[in-house]
Amino acid sequence: MVNKNFWELAYFLRITPWSSDELPIELKDFLEKNKNSIKSYLDIGCGTGSAVVNILKLGIKSVGIDISINAIKLAKDRYKKIKLSCQFYNADITNFDQISKLNLGKFDLVTDMGCFHSLPDKDDSRQKYVNSLLSLTKVGSYYLQWSFPKFRIRPIGPIGVEKIEIERLFSNYFDIIKIKNRSSLGFGRMMYIEMLRVK
Ligand SMILES: C[S@@+](CC[C@H](N)C(=O)[O-])C[C@H]1O[C@@H](n2cnc3c(N)ncnc32)[C@H](O)[C@@H]1O
Repeated sequence: MVNKNFWELAYFLRITPWSSDELPIELKDFLEKNKNSIKSYLDIGCGTGSAVVNILKLGIKSVGIDISINAIKLAKDRYKKIKLSCQFYNADITNFDQISKLNLGKFDLVTDMGCFHSLPDKDDSRQKYVNSLLSLTKVGSYYLQWSFPKFRIRPIGPIGVEKIEIERLFSNYFDIIKIKNRSSLGFGRMMYIEMLRVK
């Protein structure tokens, strides 16, 4: 089961095959097209923080949050080494009170590369995620998500997402601009979903 303990252990052992120093192609393309309108950026489930650091280098205020204390330690360490001032917080995106207390404000761009799809789908975790996301965005904010689709048989790893679920949870507030079945992440098997907040 993919829960907080799983993430802590993975980062403790440094077994994090999902980590990359490169931004995904879709995010590079997005930034190229929207570079003038994006002034603030949040990465949900930022892991060791490479996207946050890469985007800060473009002159955009960048923040990362992650449920794993070990991941945030690694991210802070990395930022110390390269002397950049980005902010990393240990927080659970499904915990609205915890997120509110951070007082992060609203972001022009929010990404999720592999966090949402690992949340349980049989309780209200995913709805709680959306509640926090709404508090961190405003009309005009972009939200980009990379997720594995739901597999019929998946004994290990993230639960994944279904398009119908994305529509149900997000479309009251977000226009779904783009859904690509394959992306540059997860060996090409992750979906890429681009959304714009309209309400
Ligand atoms: C597959 S990893 C991807 C990490 C990073 N985005 C990357 O691409 O390297 C998923 C991340 O989501 C984080 N995560 C899982 N559940 C979370 C939650 N409820 N709140 C915040 N972060 C969470 C995990 O700790 C982990 O770092």
